[in-house]
Amino acid sequence: MIIIGGSSSTGLAKEVADLVGCRYIEAESTRFPDGECYTRIEAESLDDDVAIIQNTYPDGNMMEMFLLQDIVRGMGAKSVTLVIPYFGYARQDRLFKPGEPESAKVMCNLLDRVCDRVITIDIHKEAVLDHFSCAHCDLKAAAAIAQYFGDKGIDLVLSPDIGAAGRAKDVGDRMGLPYDHLEKTRLSGTEVRIKPATMDCSGKSVLIVDDMISTGGTIIAAAQALRDAGATSVSVACTHGVFVNNALERLTQSALDKVLCCNTLDNDAALISVAGLIADELKRCA
Ligand code: R5P
Repeated sequence: MIIIGGSSSTGLAKEVADLVGCRYIEAESTRFPDGECYTRIEAESLDDDVAIIQNTYPDGNMMEMFLLQDIVRGMGAKSVTLVIPYFGYARQDRLFKPGEPESAKVMCNLLDRVCDRVITIDIHKEAVLDHFSCAHCDLKAAAAIAQYFGDKGIDLVLSPDIGAAGRAKDVGDRMGLPYDHLEKTRLSGTEVRIKPATMDCSGKSVLIVDDMISTGGTIIAAAQALRDAGATSVSVACTHGVFVNNALERLTQSALDKVLCCNTLDNDAALISVAGLIADELKRCA
């Protein structure tokens, strides 16, 4: 197998290649003066199974992924696996208003053309992957998060809402800890109460788990509410630290004690590696 590291994911791709024990090639990626993407893979041929590791976020990285797919096919790849640590556009997975696109489906259709397999990590909605006609699977970062926090004195694992309760259960079960989800009750036009649905967090060290943090608004409000309810410490671990508009800075200045995310996106909080998960899946499919 040969692993190609796209410019969004060079550190992660190198780590995966080391774990798989296979050849690693870093794509050379730059921009033309007009902003268009240029990418090149320095190799004579790629006559092997090839995995490209590259995000489809932000938009420029998606273009690089399309170009990399074309290169590896042209250089003789026997099979092409796309590893997309953070799959952009997955949140627009249906029409919320008439006249909108089904962006997640559009992405799948565009990526589907020349690949044999797609691997994502905690994609926002797993059903999105059904738009791929090729083999696909979504890996769960819960094991990596549970392992990281295993010795950090956590008492209770929470999800920010009932929709994500399965993730809190998965992490909680792996850590041998109770889990719950947060419930938001609107008290008035300006007041909202956030608290665990059934558990008491008073005197407890709490870990909130989520698939992604974007603006940080959800987690900052939840952390303050948990502190007000007597939690002794509040940490958060998400899979994808998107952190728009200085969100990481605002999170570290909030009621949170620790802010951690996986290395699907590169940032200062990305200390939990998903390389082992990806390497195991690539070896399993080889
Ligand atoms: C929502 O469905 C997601 O799981 C996240 O909770 C959400 O995207 C976080 O957004 P923000 O950081 O902007 O509050």
